[in-house]
Amino acid sequence: MRYSVSDKVVLVTGSNLGIGKATALELAKHGALVVINGRKADRLESVRAQIEQDGGKVLAVAADVTNPDDCETMVQKIIDHYGRLDVLISNAGISMRGNFENVTPQVFKQVMDVNFHGAVNITKAALPHLKKSRGRIMFISSVAGIRGLQGISAYCSAKMALTALAESMRIELSKTGIKIGITYVGFTQNDPVKRTMAADGSLIPIEERSNKNAQTTDEVARAIIRNVEKGRFKNVLTSLGKLNAIANKLFPGLVEKVLIMANDKVSKMSK
Ligand SMILES: NC(=O)c1ccc[n+]([C@@H]2O[C@H](COP(=O)([O-])OP(=O)(O)OC[C@H]3O[C@@H](n4cnc5c(N)ncnc54)[C@H](OP(=O)(O)O)[C@@H]3O)[C@@H](O)[C@H]2O)c1
Repeated sequence: MRYSVSDKVVLVTGSNLGIGKATALELAKHGALVVINGRKADRLESVRAQIEQDGGKVLAVAADVTNPDDCETMVQKIIDHYGRLDVLISNAGISMRGNFENVTPQVFKQVMDVNFHGAVNITKAALPHLKKSRGRIMFISSVAGIRGLQGISAYCSAKMALTALAESMRIELSKTGIKIGITYVGFTQNDPVKRTMAADGSLIPIEERSNKNAQTTDEVARAIIRNVEKGRFKNVLTSLGKLNAIANKLFPGLVEKVLIMANDKVSKMSK
C-alpha cells in the first residue's frame, strides 16, 4: 500500500523559514501532524499560528540541532505530545561563500556543525522511535553535495558527508523497515531574510535568484514530500541539477574543465 504522510507525525528541522517552512505548511495541508523547529522563537510562533489558522495540527519546538541534548529534548517533547514519531525531515542548514584560502576554520566548523552534525544529532535522537514506527528519514542536501564547487567548499563538504551518512545507514538499517532518502535541492527562490555565512563568519544577504532559474520553496516542498511518500533513495531536483548529476557521472573531466573556465572568468571579472 502507498505510504502517505497523512496522519503521520513528521518532524521538519529548520522549518521556521524557507524550504523547511514551506514543507511544514504543505505537510499540514496533507493532514500530517507536523513538528516545526528552529532557534528563533518569533519565527517559529508565526509558522505555528499560520498552520493552526489553516486548520492544521502542529507542535513547535525551539531547539538547536548542533546541540545533541537539545535534539534529545525535542524528540522527548514530540513523544510526550503525539506519542510517536513517524518521519524525520532533516532540513536545517546554512550555506557559505568564499574560496577555501579565505574561509576561516570556524566557518568550516559551523557549516559542518549545522548541515552535518545537526543531521547526525537529530537522527540519533529520533532513531529509536523511527524504528518503532518503521518510519522514514529524509536528509535535505543540495546539488552542491554532488561534486565540489568553487566558492562553497565547506558547504559542499558538509552536504557530501550527508550522502555517505545516508548510504551507510541504508545498509545498517535495511532490516528495520526504516526508509532513508536524500533530496539534492537545486536553485531555489530564497526568503528575503535568508542569510549566508561570509568567509569571515559574518552573516550576509544571499544573492537574488530570478524566477526563471529557481524553483519556488513550494515546489521544493512538494518534491520532498513526494520523495518521502515514494520512499525514494536519491533524488536530484531541477533540470540543471539533474544535468549536473548525469554529466558529473559520465564526463567528470569535462565538468571540471567547464568549472575551471567559469572560475577563471569570475576571477578576472572581480579583478
Ligand atoms: N535555498 C536554496 O537554494 C537551497 C539549495 C540547495 C539546498 N538547500 C538546503 O535546503 C535546506 C533549507 O534551506 P533554506 O534555503 O530554506 O534555508 P533558510 O531559509 O536559511 O532557513 C534555514 C532554516 O534552518 C534553521 N536553522 C539554522 N541553523 C539551525 C540550527 N542550528 N538548529 C535548528 N535550526 C536551524 C533556521 O532557523 P533558525 O535560524 O531560527 O535556527 C531556518 O529555519 C538547507 O539544508 C539547505 O542547505 C537550499
